[in-house]
Amino acid sequence: MKSIASAPAKIILFGEHFVVHGTMALLAAIDKRVTVTSTFTENKTIKVNSELGTIEVPISSSHEEVESEFRPFVYLANKMIASNQNVNGLEITINSDIPVGVGLGSSSACCVAAASSIFGLFKELSDSEILKMSIEAEKTIFPDLSGADLYVCAAGGIIGCEEDGDSFVYHSSTTSVSYEISANLVIVNSMIQHSTKRSVEKVRRFKENNEKRFSELCDLVTKLIGDPKDGGGGPGGALDNMKNNDIAALGLKMTENQKYLEEIQVSNDTLRDMISSLKEISLGTKITGAGDGGCIIALVEDKNLDKVPALLPKDKEYFSAKIDTRGVVWKIEK
Ligand code: MEV
Repeated sequence: MKSIASAPAKIILFGEHFVVHGTMALLAAIDKRVTVTSTFTENKTIKVNSELGTIEVPISSSHEEVESEFRPFVYLANKMIASNQNVNGLEITINSDIPVGVGLGSSSACCVAAASSIFGLFKELSDSEILKMSIEAEKTIFPDLSGADLYVCAAGGIIGCEEDGDSFVYHSSTTSVSYEISANLVIVNSMIQHSTKRSVEKVRRFKENNEKRFSELCDLVTKLIGDPKDGGGGPGGALDNMKNNDIAALGLKMTENQKYLEEIQVSNDTLRDMISSLKEISLGTKITGAGDGGCIIALVEDKNLDKVPALLPKDKEYFSAKIDTRGVVWKIEK
């Protein structure tokens, strides 16, 4: 029996970094996915196969004993085995078309799909159980992240995420109103891998040294997005622009958000060059994710899409992403 789950990659339309400090972020799931397949074995080991390599450790091993990229899988396997005593061994295989380390949520999508696949060997987890398990799994490598990426990888579509008291919530009102972005979301990969952890630490230091300005920037981001609690965003926010299909206004807000990301110093010359190379055809362009490398997103109308390759620096990869309304998807194969 195989338990197979897949989860989508993500982009952040607005609010990366600020979301770690309590503001809202607007995220979208996109049509690149990771698939995790789990099977029982008789080997008394936990075996993990991925493009990053293969590990096979005794079933009693703790996640702390393995290299960081394999920790979430061993953590989830341990949890599952602890609640189901008669498991001899497990094999977990990861197949992904999400580029790693460039801000498209590869690690979060892996944690979400792995939670669903590994526990799915015994029962289908509810959405909230998948989130709980994947949050715990991701914390084994990234203890300081907001968790926003996990929410969108689990839920799919476009969602707003923010802290709510002690917990973290996503606003389903943003998914129940049908938002569409009737322009292309062009993702350009700088081909520079980044460390989300280092960028998040850097922004934390910026905040400590610039408390007042950081708090102003948080307010500005909140205003850019609008408030999803009032059923789709206050007037003039990005949510409102999406509802009214005002892509020009949406693009301007992306460019505005980029100014805030420049100010907190997660941009660099390569990213600025990529952004400026698309200036004449893009309605708005910004970093997506942690920055310091990784990807940018540009909002490009159909009539300009074929101009993209000639404008971009030759060593960069790009694709036009579609919003994936499916979050995590699970099935059993006999
Ligand atoms: C990374 O995809 C998004 C950040 O905002 C970090 C986080 O939310 O934890 C940079």
